[in-house]
Amino acid sequence: MKSVVIQQPNELVIEDRPLPAPAAGDVRVKIKLAGICGSDSHIYRGHNPFAKYPRVIGHEFFGEIDATGEGVDGARLGQRVSVDPVISCGHCYPCSVGKPNVCTSLVVLGVHRDGGFSEYAVVPAKNAWPIPDEIPDKHAVMVEPFTIAANVTGHAKPTEQDVALIYGAGPMGLVTVQALKGVYKVKQVIVVDRIDERLAMAQRSGADWVFNNAEQSLQAALEEKGIRPTLIVDAACHPSILQEAITMASPAARIVLMGFSSDPSQIVQQGITGKELSIFSSRLNANKFPVVIDWLKKGLIDPEKLITHTFDYHHVSDAIELFEKDQRQCCKVLLTFGQ
Ligand code: NAI
Ligand code: MN
Ligand code: ZN
Repeated sequence: MKSVVIQQPNELVIEDRPLPAPAAGDVRVKIKLAGICGSDSHIYRGHNPFAKYPRVIGHEFFGEIDATGEGVDGARLGQRVSVDPVISCGHCYPCSVGKPNVCTSLVVLGVHRDGGFSEYAVVPAKNAWPIPDEIPDKHAVMVEPFTIAANVTGHAKPTEQDVALIYGAGPMGLVTVQALKGVYKVKQVIVVDRIDERLAMAQRSGADWVFNNAEQSLQAALEEKGIRPTLIVDAACHPSILQEAITMASPAARIVLMGFSSDPSQIVQQGITGKELSIFSSRLNANKFPVVIDWLKKGLIDPEKLITHTFDYHHVSDAIELFEKDQRQCCKVLLTFGQ
């Protein structure tokens, strides 16, 4: 089989590898589609502290089960599946409180273990979630990015009367907007970014109001309109955003952080405690695949609105380069395998 391998930072090859046999409890998936994410590019460029090389990247992938290991129901052969990249031990403290996404021995496919940019991948059977026939392939490959939004909303528990503010109109901001509008029917969703083309995408995904903060202050604009957000999600992840969010938030608001910056954020306690704000962080997803598959079945979200490009995997380098360089035109870039 062919696999997309990052041999070491900045060295990508399409390599011939032996077809792996599934071990007990595993299934082998013949990949059809995979999505490119910021973290794939970070591993490629050597900017991901968790990555070990060589590595088959890709943690957003969909395909068909073509072999089953011992102890796995043979009836699953041929099943269409989306793969949850989060592999957890099931018995440590975080696992025992329902947070396998921060398991003390967390393994993420495509990061710590070989992932889905490959003609085939062997994964634990329980990570391969069956996709109902009515959900098309292009939606199925987008389950993982939407699980990030499901995890965020699982913490923040949005309601219809929320006034939500989303920082960042990249893929992560857009999945969050779609969940807030489509699933939770939030009254007002505001999106802030520095790129007009991305803000236009946010509008297509349901944002009620968008704001470009490249040259103008968001804080001043919200004050002028008398808007105090009750739910703020930071999907832009600059360390300066937290204090701005704390300042603008309504009393009793919730703030959700998604960033991994290693630079400090300077914050003032009074602004948090004085308004009794709740600050959550959200990483990957905790058992959210069935949640998102249900959203798709009910038509509450529309992944097509995020897909801007599709490449055959032979052109994976071009695809990643485009994804990195053209934030104005690119959102989700997909790779096709075996087509
Ligand atoms: P992206 O880079 O495509 O989008 C970020 C957007 O934020 C860009 O459109 C950019 O113009 C905008 N932005 C940057 N600074 C801003 C500021 N100060 N004000 C307003 N807008 C600003 O990235 P993507 O894929 O959407 O991911 C967003 C962030 O989420 C990344 O930092 C990534 O590391 C993080 N992430 C976290 C996950 C988690 O589970 N916690 C999962 C996936 C991504
Ligand atoms: Mn991703
Ligand atoms: Zn664990």
